[in-house]
Amino acid sequence: MLLEIRDIQVHYNGVAALKRVSIEVPVDGIVTIIGANGAGKSTTLRAVSGLTAISSGEIWFDGARIDTLPPDKVVARGIAQVPEGRRIFPDLTVEENLRTGAYLRTDAAAVERDLDGIFVRFPRLKERRRQWAKTLSGGEQQMVAIGRALMAKPRLLLLDEPSMGLAPVVILEIARIIKEIVANGVPVVLVEQNAELALGLANYAYVLETGTVSLHGASRDLHENEHVKRAYLGV
Ligand SMILES: Nc1ncnc2c1ncn2[C@@H]1O[C@H](COP(=O)(O)OP(=O)(O)OP(=O)(O)O)[C@@H](O)[C@H]1O
Ligand SMILES: [Mg+2]
Repeated sequence: MLLEIRDIQVHYNGVAALKRVSIEVPVDGIVTIIGANGAGKSTTLRAVSGLTAISSGEIWFDGARIDTLPPDKVVARGIAQVPEGRRIFPDLTVEENLRTGAYLRTDAAAVERDLDGIFVRFPRLKERRRQWAKTLSGGEQQMVAIGRALMAKPRLLLLDEPSMGLAPVVILEIARIIKEIVANGVPVVLVEQNAELALGLANYAYVLETGTVSLHGASRDLHENEHVKRAYLGV
């Protein structure tokens, strides 16, 4: 496994947000974490990225323990996160936003090549490279957030609700981009409230309910699971 979350707990002011959560992510494909508001999805990703401290358990990435590392060291190991709500810099241009993703890198020539690569993958961003990020549409801002994470040259990409607030046709475009990233060899952990989308994209899925993994399995099996259908697919 590339990433192993082993039995982690997270507490906020003494209240458990995650209770013994274990999740495994292989070296390829998409693992999704679905769940309702407040289930602990973002907390799980933030724990992996070193943004939220765990109170017990362990997190391993590529054979090394990472749960004691600060966020910049986690990025340096190869884990990039696209946070919930995108969190791009509104008063920087598209290109400046993308460059911030490479702030830990010292391979300047490769950074320029990768920036060109991002503009090939996201032609809409190339047209708007000198535009302030705040002037972009929601879908374009999500592309900037994903592009910025890719500029870190990650070996694992964590996506926190990339479909949030986007129109169906834009969600399809983001889904296509996610598939392309995986096809290019970067595995993805996809957190989503949109279970239909997530189960359609992912190979394997975890259902998080009030801080606990209540179910996990192949996405196509969970898609047929009666509880998942009723609680998350609106069937
Ligand atoms: N910084 C914080 N301080 C205190 N409580 C927090 C903090 N962040 C999250 N929580 C609580 O932890 C629980 C899990 O929150 P989390 O944001 O991980 O859920 P989520 O599954 O990402 O929800 P959503 O789908 O709404 O984004 C919630 O009860 C939330 O109120
Ligand atoms: Mg969240």
